[in-house]
Amino acid sequence: MAEAMIFIVIVGALIVILLYVFNLTWISPYWVIAFLTLLIAPGLYAAFTSGPFVPSARKRHKTMLRLANLTDSDIVYDLGCGDGRLVFSAARFSKKAIGYDLSIPLVLYGKMLSLFHPKARIRFGNLWKQDYSDATVIFCYLLPGAMKQFHKEVWPRLKKGTRVVSNAFEIHNLKPLKKEDKVYLYQV
Ligand SMILES: C[S@@+](CC[C@H](N)C(=O)[O-])C[C@H]1O[C@@H](n2cnc3c(N)ncnc32)[C@H](O)[C@@H]1O
Repeated sequence: MAEAMIFIVIVGALIVILLYVFNLTWISPYWVIAFLTLLIAPGLYAAFTSGPFVPSARKRHKTMLRLANLTDSDIVYDLGCGDGRLVFSAARFSKKAIGYDLSIPLVLYGKMLSLFHPKARIRFGNLWKQDYSDATVIFCYLLPGAMKQFHKEVWPRLKKGTRVVSNAFEIHNLKPLKKEDKVYLYQV
């Protein structure tokens, strides 16, 4: 969240500087505010519906990777990847790792960082609308309501054997294969 706020402030400041440098002060501040609002609106929608950007804590992050037991043939998805930090870690131990998020500032920031992680991809998109048919591992850190939705809508579309690692919140009505430090491992 802090990174997103810093990004918005920097973009806002850059816009103001550009307006003055290029003598575009005739552009109404309302347009600038409208532009910034559009920039953060999808992320706010995501935060309120399925979960705000709170990165998995360092210890949990490690536990998630350990429970996923990644190999270099794994194709990993992080559903709601934020700035992509889990995607970048997963990419180091897998064939490829892809993260989706709806927050434009976080996705832009993540895309920039992904230049240093060739096996990682950060994409702008609604996690509920993506195709995970090639996934072998799914990471999520979403609100309980979203985990219910995950079980109903995403789980049936995953191929058999796919490992699902959820931080903090269980999948309703499913018994985890393993549970460690509030991280849950399931297998389809
Ligand atoms: C709690 S954070 C998890 C970040 C990361 N997966 C981790 O474990 O560190 C949840 C993320 O999900 C994103 N999100 C929520 N709903 C979403 C949706 N419908 N589509 C894409 N991303 C979404 C939020 O923007 C937020 O960045």
